[in-house]
Amino acid sequence: MNMKDVLKGKLSEEELSKVPRAFDIVGDIAIIEIPFELKHRKMDIAEALLKVNKHVKTVCDKYGERSGDYRLNEIEILIGESTVTEHKENNCRFRVDLSKAYFSARESTERLRIGRMIKPGENVLVMFSGVCPSPITYARMQKKIGSAYGVELNPDAHTYAEENVRLNKVEGKVIPICGNVREACPKLGKKFDRITMPLPKGAYEFLDTVFEVAARGCVVHFYYYDRQDALYGKALEYVKNAAKKAKRKIKILDKRKVLPYGPRIWKVCVEFRVLD
Ligand SMILES: C[S@@+](CC[C@H](N)C(=O)[O-])C[C@H]1O[C@@H](n2cnc3c(N)ncnc32)[C@H](O)[C@@H]1O
Repeated sequence: MNMKDVLKGKLSEEELSKVPRAFDIVGDIAIIEIPFELKHRKMDIAEALLKVNKHVKTVCDKYGERSGDYRLNEIEILIGESTVTEHKENNCRFRVDLSKAYFSARESTERLRIGRMIKPGENVLVMFSGVCPSPITYARMQKKIGSAYGVELNPDAHTYAEENVRLNKVEGKVIPICGNVREACPKLGKKFDRITMPLPKGAYEFLDTVFEVAARGCVVHFYYYDRQDALYGKALEYVKNAAKKAKRKIKILDKRKVLPYGPRIWKVCVEFRVLD
């Protein structure tokens, strides 16, 4: 039985056709975006969702796109008590308050993909690290990692990152730092072998900082929202221009679609090595 089966008889055929098929689950919280014209049916929809997803305890309605520097969704609890949960993936546990900090379960495959590339001894920097799912995943996958720094602006996300480091027993390997990437990264006084930039909306503005802290041979994973009809064009342009400005030589290693973002928009990843 699915949500629509439960709602049959309660909602008209027209209303049923507008019930979203997709929703996100983080820990025991389900987040659904109920269309404006179905808001008066939101409790029926939340109850139906709960009925067919036995492990869900809280159902939230999401309003619009993520916004602001902290990339947060505006959410309303429809059923349940709290927006704090613990999410399990890839042999890791992440605690997060979804009303205060960014977390997306959809990115777990990408965390694994990068985690598999990390070699013993590598010093990794995750810019825009949120509650630290990426650095923690890397450190648990590659036991001989040198270090995994995570730099995050949102103090609430940082507090959860510190808790998640303890929960996953990666103290000393994963080092969460609270601050703006632009100032905080150079202040670390370190050069990195791998840098990931998981802020597709604005990472391009921080490519100059990447070149400041990239060791020779560093591999950079740069994310961007690109148009389907000109895929990778803008992303590659940003990367090449920033390298030229920093007077560093690079080699493009890979470019790939990561996830669909909107109609004809993809989250893409461009990977390059800093050669000198
Ligand atoms: C798209 S989220 C990704 C979070 C995390 N990497 C993850 O996958 O869960 C981007 C994060 O970057 C943070 N952020 C935005 N601008 C920043 C900046 N200038 N310096 C550090 N963090 C920043 C936001 O607060 C947000 O948590």
